[in-house]
Amino acid sequence: MASRNRSSTSDYSASNYNQTAAFVYSAEYTASILSFLKPSVGERIADFGCGPGELTLRIQEAVGMSGFTIGIDYNNDMISRALANGVRHAYMSDLQNIQIPADMLENSFDAVFSNAVLHWCKQNPRGVLDGAKRLLKVGGRFVCEMGGFMNCIGVRIGLHRAVKRRGYEPDKMDPWYFPTIEEYQGLLESAGFSVNTISLVPRLTPLLDGGLRGWLQLFARRTFLKGFSDQEAAAIIDEVVDMCEVDMKDKEGNWALMYVRLRFLATLDSP
Ligand SMILES: C[S@@+](CC[C@H](N)C(=O)[O-])C[C@H]1O[C@@H](n2cnc3c(N)ncnc32)[C@H](O)[C@@H]1O
Repeated sequence: MASRNRSSTSDYSASNYNQTAAFVYSAEYTASILSFLKPSVGERIADFGCGPGELTLRIQEAVGMSGFTIGIDYNNDMISRALANGVRHAYMSDLQNIQIPADMLENSFDAVFSNAVLHWCKQNPRGVLDGAKRLLKVGGRFVCEMGGFMNCIGVRIGLHRAVKRRGYEPDKMDPWYFPTIEEYQGLLESAGFSVNTISLVPRLTPLLDGGLRGWLQLFARRTFLKGFSDQEAAAIIDEVVDMCEVDMKDKEGNWALMYVRLRFLATLDSP
């Protein structure tokens, strides 16, 4: 196994994200979570893990010029793209330990929003909630959709098996945190939030551009498989694609993946 740090077309760049994963921020898939958020004119809303900013822009439009929206993401390329796309405020920081200019931001937000991000925060999920608490007013909303229990079932099993077969410990490489309702509700409550609603929502998701191979290149190559050489990673990806074909590819050659989303609206009770 070799560690590497060089760019390639499989990097998690804004362009690759837009090309392979536009379904993540599509109107169809985000209607429910945006209806939980209900952004209104004049509100201050932070978008945790804004990516290239497609959803941040929609929130920015809803809060209008009298409101304030900020996107936060730890990927510099995503932040640059979000600003270029018209997001007025975007900030680079790890959500697990948010560093923000305190005088500008603390305890002044009506809502923190996040779509398809918090399952990447396996190292310190509680740190994300502490960051949200620092931004929110008492009574502020925390509205989120993320990968939940059994998300991407099949692919994750395939990656674990392929890596284990090569003598490595998959649990250490696995970047994903897919909590159950009970686990995440407990975390929210212990951090001082009241949970208004929380559910697990299975969603069959067609993989349009690049099928499962494209998905693995985007979401696993520089995360789960980051310690492997290009050659080793390609062999693992081939193996996983082969393993999953029986369940995830239809007779016309179209791929789909079973996403399971954890969706919640919580309210901050106390600072
Ligand atoms: C699947 S994209 C979702 C982007 C956007 N929310 C959307 O719906 O299109 C996940 C984003 O979360 C960001 N991200 C993942 N872990 C993060 C962390 N610990 N801190 C900050 N950003 C993170 C990634 O850089 C990426 O832009």
